[in-house]
Amino acid sequence: MDLGYRCLTGISGLDTLLNGGIPRGNSVLVSGSCGTGKTTISLEFLIRGAEKNERGLYVSATEISTNVMKNMVPFGFFKQEYFDNNMIEVIDIPNIYNELGFERMEFESEDIERIVNFIGDKIEKDKIQRLVVDSLTSICYRLRTEEKIRDFILKLEKKVNENKTTAILVSELLPSAKGYSQYGVEEAVADGIILLGNLKRRGDLLRTLQIIKMRGTSHSRAEYVMDITTIGILISPLLKGGTVNNQ
Ligand SMILES: Nc1ncnc2c1ncn2[C@@H]1O[C@H](COP(=O)(O)OP(=O)(O)O)[C@@H](O)[C@H]1O
Ligand SMILES: [Mg+2]
Repeated sequence: MDLGYRCLTGISGLDTLLNGGIPRGNSVLVSGSCGTGKTTISLEFLIRGAEKNERGLYVSATEISTNVMKNMVPFGFFKQEYFDNNMIEVIDIPNIYNELGFERMEFESEDIERIVNFIGDKIEKDKIQRLVVDSLTSICYRLRTEEKIRDFILKLEKKVNENKTTAILVSELLPSAKGYSQYGVEEAVADGIILLGNLKRRGDLLRTLQIIKMRGTSHSRAEYVMDITTIGILISPLLKGGTVNNQ
């Protein structure tokens, strides 16, 4: 099956900003602080894929996946059947660690190889076209050094790219963060970065989305408003003027 060069995210407005979607095989950081919509956009990406018969894998590393799913139920696009019939597979990272017999808090190089192979084997065996790791930051926490983080991400990206799978790697930021990732390494090796944020305007707190980089395509670099609605994420232009505090 030839899926074409680009992966249409299916998120309303985003594919236009990307001139037709994410180039397949890219690993894209979705970065933002708590509550900016990283998990919601990631799950909508998987569900929109399932609607087009693209198989998804959600690796849950910060929260137990049953809790994550519970929060998705109110959304109109959420369909339990995709999870029941394994169109979208869900794995909790502690289960991967258990299965691999990991006990130590800090991972060594051979552990990195084994985690990547575990995810990679699943991608190959089940023909996964869309992968979400939520979050990459929490896995990096157990890698500790920049060298090991770089090694892990590069190995994961290689697997993803070889299979033409499109990956969203969630990057958790502190509200005061200056860059796009906790350790700095993640943003340097990612193929793309989508930054989610908050913007105070006339007493409202708006959600924003901005594509910082995306290998293999031209794209808008402007900041947009991102609304989380019951029918899904909606992206609209950020009208200039009227901002408070010169934001
Ligand atoms: N059904 C819904 N309708 C509109 N907004 C929602 C809905 N469910 C959650 N949200 C909003 O999404 C936010 C959580 O987004 P989430 O994707 O979990 O963020 P992150 O993963 O970046 O921490 C909540 O704080 C809430 O404002
Ligand atoms: Mg989240």
